[in-house]
Amino acid sequence: MDFKKVRLVYAFILMMGVLCLYFSMEPFKTQPFVLKKGHAKFLQLPDIDCKQKPPFLVLLVTSSHKQLAARMAIRKTWGRETEVRGRRVKTLFLLGASDSINEMNETAQEGKQHRDIIQKDFKDDYYNLTLKTLMGMEWVHHFCPQAAFVMKTDSDVFVNVGYLTDLLLKKNKTSRFFTGYIISNNRPFRETFSKWFVSKFEYPWDRYPPFCSGTGYVFSSDVASKVYSVSESVPFLKLEDVFVGLCLAKLKIQPEELHTKPTFFPGGLYFSVCRFRKIVTCHSVTPRYLLIYWQILENSPKKYCPS
Ligand SMILES: *[C@@H]1O[C@H](CO)[C@@H](O)[C@H](O)[C@H]1NC(C)=O
Ligand SMILES: *[C@@H]1O[C@H](CO)[C@@H](O)[C@H](O)[C@H]1NC(C)=O
Ligand SMILES: *[C@@H]1O[C@H](CO)[C@@H](O)[C@H](O)[C@H]1NC(C)=O
Repeated sequence: MDFKKVRLVYAFILMMGVLCLYFSMEPFKTQPFVLKKGHAKFLQLPDIDCKQKPPFLVLLVTSSHKQLAARMAIRKTWGRETEVRGRRVKTLFLLGASDSINEMNETAQEGKQHRDIIQKDFKDDYYNLTLKTLMGMEWVHHFCPQAAFVMKTDSDVFVNVGYLTDLLLKKNKTSRFFTGYIISNNRPFRETFSKWFVSKFEYPWDRYPPFCSGTGYVFSSDVASKVYSVSESVPFLKLEDVFVGLCLAKLKIQPEELHTKPTFFPGGLYFSVCRFRKIVTCHSVTPRYLLIYWQILENSPKKYCPS
């Protein structure tokens, strides 16, 4: 082998080495995508005057156009409550925009009738859940900072509004408070086939900060403005609950337990009257079962359960 060839081989190896190093740095070359707060206008606003009559608790329910049955079931059950333990409570639904003119028309009608829809002009899609949640935070920030507490939940969740109110009153923490089913030390899913896949480009780090399951978390209303204000300075993730966790970490707000016993059940739970009287959330409840559970709970004597 002559000298020239050896030099070429060395040059080639060196070049490959540099290329490998370059590509292994991929996730760190550019900043992860951050949100630019869309100042899209609200398409629908609910009928609630927080200034005149400050609510104790506002429940914001993420929902999609097709989930009319779920919204109706909630309106007839836990969402129907307007006063709990003498305190004002209000349930509102969060919606984006549909490509279907028909669906847009129907939800506009529905909103006119029930006056409980908050809607903005972004595409209503599972992967836009973060935008939907931020719309809720923005709404609280602009229209309802007078509320004491806010809950964000989903349309397939049973919420025991009365028990939640009891626990919030007992906890008596009215600022920088955030609670729910706390998930600590979670790692990003790196498998591309996963529903929760997050690339190293979107989120280069190995662990998520603590966050609360998106099936139901509760916070003092000041947190809404705070999360909304830092939302542009953390990596944008389509996983809304993790995204809110990133905002909380930035704000140095630690999610804390609401009670010494488990009360938030993101994995679902078998129904019993006494069990459901002492929980805050139960996930994966279909509209049909929500109505059934509610009726049984309403018809059971108050003193039925041993304390
Ligand atoms: C939607 O409503 C508007 C008026 O409110 C009407 O002109 C239009 O035909 C409706 N479209 C559909 C698809 O129903
Ligand atoms: C989210 O909403 C924006 C604004 O409407 C849209 O451009 C984008 O395609 C949506 N994303 C998904 C995944 O639907
Ligand atoms: C709630 O906390 C405040 C101080 O943050 C205190 O003044 C008040 O007495 C407490 N109320 C109850 C019912 O514990």
